[in-house]
Amino acid sequence: MTFFASIFFLIVSSVLIINTPCQAQLSSSFYDSTCPNALSTIRTSISQAVSAEPRMAASLIRLHFHDCFVQGCDASILLNDSPTFTGEQTALQNNNSVRGFEVIEEAKREVESICPGIVSCADILSVAARDASEAVGGPSWTVNLGRRDSTTASRDLATASLPRFTDPLDTLIGNFGDLGLNTRDLVALSGSHTIGQARCTTFRARIYSNGSDIEADFATTRRQQCPATGGNDRLAPLDLVTPNSFDNNYFRNLVERRGLLQSDQVLFSGGSTDSIVTEYVNNPATFASDFGSAMVRMGDIQPLTGQNGIIRTTCGVAN
Ligand code: HEM
Repeated sequence: MTFFASIFFLIVSSVLIINTPCQAQLSSSFYDSTCPNALSTIRTSISQAVSAEPRMAASLIRLHFHDCFVQGCDASILLNDSPTFTGEQTALQNNNSVRGFEVIEEAKREVESICPGIVSCADILSVAARDASEAVGGPSWTVNLGRRDSTTASRDLATASLPRFTDPLDTLIGNFGDLGLNTRDLVALSGSHTIGQARCTTFRARIYSNGSDIEADFATTRRQQCPATGGNDRLAPLDLVTPNSFDNNYFRNLVERRGLLQSDQVLFSGGSTDSIVTEYVNNPATFASDFGSAMVRMGDIQPLTGQNGIIRTTCGVAN
């Protein structure tokens, strides 16, 4: 190479290095040498919690989702309010609704006792979601690791970032798309509404709507537990058939117009996602495998890595 060619090569490569965005590199072997028993410790903790209360599986999967959709998967949802910020827990979509904090704190305590200061709360949450799915007969997948924890959280950001049960289909598609998740991911991930519960306040308008997109007997049954006024916190299963097992009944419900939330039924209402719903009804294995891949993609949303963020000692507080 001539002198000028070498100089040219050096300039071009420096420009490339400077301009290449720092890609976060999560890896499933991240704790293999620093805390080899981290994953088995978390698994024991989560399976105990789900045995004690099957709904906890649903709550943990949702907690991971609500973490990742607000400033990335950085355990920001776990932070209690502090003198410097109001956190995410009282955002409209979370308030009086997200749960499972004490289960994550317990898993963190166990992990801290074997490897202090090594494993982030964000990673524990991600592993917990996978273990929770497995514990109720759902899909399993390999969790990427190496996320670090945020030092701040914002209620306003959570309110702005999390989807709402009143959102129309194109809004949901756009919201997921902004985070790098495609329409198929949206439908697959919504399939986690095959487990867990919703409060009357989230589905009242739908069951009293007398609309044509809800099956009449289903609406009547749901009204018995969810009055037209009052009883906001009364619960109903998101999947009326098998609320504690992770299967594809959620999609069958949608085809029968028995989706509990409006944001469920919009996935099968004559729009672009109908064909994906039908595919998941006919092929549970495709749903299971799509769900696992979509959870991995969701877990990859904007993680803090390397020197960014911290490893919290207690998940509720930024040490
Ligand atoms: C597509 C947009 C979504 C909307 C609008 C939405 C909305 C909701 C609402 C309103 C509830 C009931 C909360 C309550 O009444 O306290 C709920 C529950 C739940 N959501 Fe979603 N959700 C969406 C997507 C997802 C995704 C992507 C996941 C997971 C990957 C998920 C997992 C769950 C689970 C498991 C529950 C039950 C939680 C429990 O029983 O504690 N949801 N969702």
